[in-house]
Amino acid sequence: MAHDTVGTVVSNHHVNALYKHIVITCPQTRIWGEPGQFYMLTCPPGPEDRPFFRRPMSLYANGRGPDTVEFLYKITGTGTRALATLKEGESIRLLGPLGHGFTLQPDWKHLVVVGRGVGLATLAPLVKAARANNLGVTAILSSRERHMSMSQHHFVDVGARLVEVNDDDGSSAPDNVMECIRAQIQAGQCDALFTCGSKRLLGIIQHLAREYSLPGQVALEQQMACGLGMCFSCVRAMCEGQKTIHRRVCWDGPVFDALEVQS
Ligand SMILES: Cc1cc2nc3c(=O)[nH]c(=O)nc-3n(C[C@H](O)[C@H](O)[C@H](O)COP(=O)(O)OP(=O)(O)OC[C@H]3O[C@@H](n4cnc5c(N)ncnc54)[C@H](O)[C@@H]3O)c2cc1C
Ligand code: FES
Repeated sequence: MAHDTVGTVVSNHHVNALYKHIVITCPQTRIWGEPGQFYMLTCPPGPEDRPFFRRPMSLYANGRGPDTVEFLYKITGTGTRALATLKEGESIRLLGPLGHGFTLQPDWKHLVVVGRGVGLATLAPLVKAARANNLGVTAILSSRERHMSMSQHHFVDVGARLVEVNDDDGSSAPDNVMECIRAQIQAGQCDALFTCGSKRLLGIIQHLAREYSLPGQVALEQQMACGLGMCFSCVRAMCEGQKTIHRRVCWDGPVFDALEVQS
């Protein structure tokens, strides 16, 4: 059930130059969500920035108790700049959990998840849930620069096999990522494919899902105003057989069958 509530900032630390990790507690409220669900955060007004709409953020972790949620965010513009100014003990309004998250099938044995940049925030709780269900996980984490890769511990600590690729040494090139996943599939270590955000990674997942008739899921990122299905600002074109249909990412997603999404 979604709550529109006011929480208190427990911490809001830099992970590296571009990313911060915020922990928010909402006492007496079971604010926990499922992997792939998101929250709309009200970013505070600052001396220059006055963010109007709430900003969507995926649940990153919820391991500290049902009244506490964590987000990993990239400082990109007005809203996230304002979010970055919040200090321990300050208040923040949040609405969530919202949307439909990832689903795991009982007959799957091994997943491959592929993420880039802040997309890792969305995939980290999925990997944790999969490992808790005794599924093997290979996580391919892509980043621009080697030293900017983050969140590895979320994957390693729960026993996922980690493959890091980056733009610095060219290992994140689509052909290389594709071959990396293909090797997993051919070794019988991939019953389903998961990704988030990046158009390039979605293209790779779609290609391999078609080639090997594998299921795939993607968590989409779309600019949102309400997050509640009312404003239609997050509509995205999807395929239904030969037809093009339109879906609201906040209401029908943000997680979709990878082959439904027009890339
Ligand atoms: C379901 C969902 C989950 C998300 N989870 C996370 C998360 O866990 N961590 C995180 O850092 N970000 C996440 N995002 C993206 C995040 O919402 C945007 O980066 C944020 O709203 C930007 O707000 P801003 O005011 O700082 O930037 P703005 O000034 O609004 O925009 C700065 C730049 O970011 C782009 N942008 C704005 N909103 C989005 C968006 N929704 N998706 C992609 N690009 C956008 C703009 O086009 C512009 O180039 C998520 C988005 C969605 C829809
Ligand atoms: S953000 Fe308003 S309908 Fe999706």
